[in-house]
Amino acid sequence: MSLRLELVDDLVLLGWEGMEVDLLQRRPSFVTGTHFATGPAPSPASVVSPGTSSVEATTWSLRGMTALVTGGTRGIGHAIVEELVGFGARVHTCCRNERELDGCLSEWDNLGFGVTGSVCDVSVRSQREELMSTVSTLFDGKLNILINNVGRNLRKPVVDFTAAEFSTLMATNFESVFHISQLAYPLLKASGVGSIVFTSSVLGFVSLKSMSVQGANKEAYKEILFICDSRSINQLTKTLACEWAKDNIRSNAVAPWYIRTSMVEQVLSNKEYLEEVYSRTPLRRLGDPKEVSSLVAFLCLPASSYITGQIVCVDGGMCVNGFYPRHD
Ligand SMILES: NC(=O)c1ccc[n+]([C@@H]2O[C@H](COP(=O)([O-])OP(=O)(O)OC[C@H]3O[C@@H](n4cnc5c(N)ncnc54)[C@H](OP(=O)(O)O)[C@@H]3O)[C@@H](O)[C@H]2O)c1
Repeated sequence: MSLRLELVDDLVLLGWEGMEVDLLQRRPSFVTGTHFATGPAPSPASVVSPGTSSVEATTWSLRGMTALVTGGTRGIGHAIVEELVGFGARVHTCCRNERELDGCLSEWDNLGFGVTGSVCDVSVRSQREELMSTVSTLFDGKLNILINNVGRNLRKPVVDFTAAEFSTLMATNFESVFHISQLAYPLLKASGVGSIVFTSSVLGFVSLKSMSVQGANKEAYKEILFICDSRSINQLTKTLACEWAKDNIRSNAVAPWYIRTSMVEQVLSNKEYLEEVYSRTPLRRLGDPKEVSSLVAFLCLPASSYITGQIVCVDGGMCVNGFYPRHD
């Protein structure tokens, strides 16, 4: 039996010769192009084994499901939006910059993705409430997937943090995910099958000194608040996995190491530091947002229905490296 590719509008249908069309996975053409043109193994949604029943095929599909992805206009969040749409979900996203949001929404509209979005600063309580009220109206009070993705970092010595900076970082990185999860709970429960994925960080597992390249001041600092937030998120992930399991809501987190996005552009512009990053990463490269979004999608799929309370590193092996001197 051979693999079949069929182009319908902007979508590539993929499946095995002889299978019914409704068993095939629909993916945006550029995503499929990326998976096949560059050689890596196709993502799970692209492969349906010969002889697969329709029940098994739904294991690898998010068709009919609804999702909220916070911070979906750039970087990892942007890749997650497209990955979830590729698996068939209806997605709503948010960010602070209205112009960027409109640009993304119109691009997605042209691709036929049907993504919706709101301007929302997740560090502000009233805006979080407004966001969830919009999501509830859009999706008839039901939400299958919540991706708590927004996060920020500020690299400076502990003594230099002002009270305002401390509050903003904590509100953006931890208070927001706690509150949005609370607000989403009735919707996740009402959907019958809920899944939360948090974007944490390898800093939940290892300590890291990062570079500040603000002005002429190139110094290394421990990312202290980012470490606290990542560890709090990991604990929340585990707590919700236990507390909300009775409602068929799973809770997992992904923990990236350096992924090439606007958030880390500045710190990685320091060539010396970048070399250090490569030397501590067994795969000797940075990650791509799509390498995080594929894991996020897996954690939302019925295929991972017995996985909850886990924090999975996407780090090119950095966390398990220990003392392993560079040999190449
Ligand atoms: N990139 C990495 O190497 C890395 C490593 C470990 C963990 N992470 C985590 O991964 C997540 C995504 O990071 P990224 O690198 O993709 O970041 P990014 O490229 O800076 O994108 C951040 C996204 O979140 C939005 N956003 C930021 N603050 C917001 C706020 N207060 N309210 C609403 N939306 C907000 C941004 O849009 P607006 O600016 O318009 O609001 C943008 O859409 C973060 O939680 C980050 O901590 C990233």
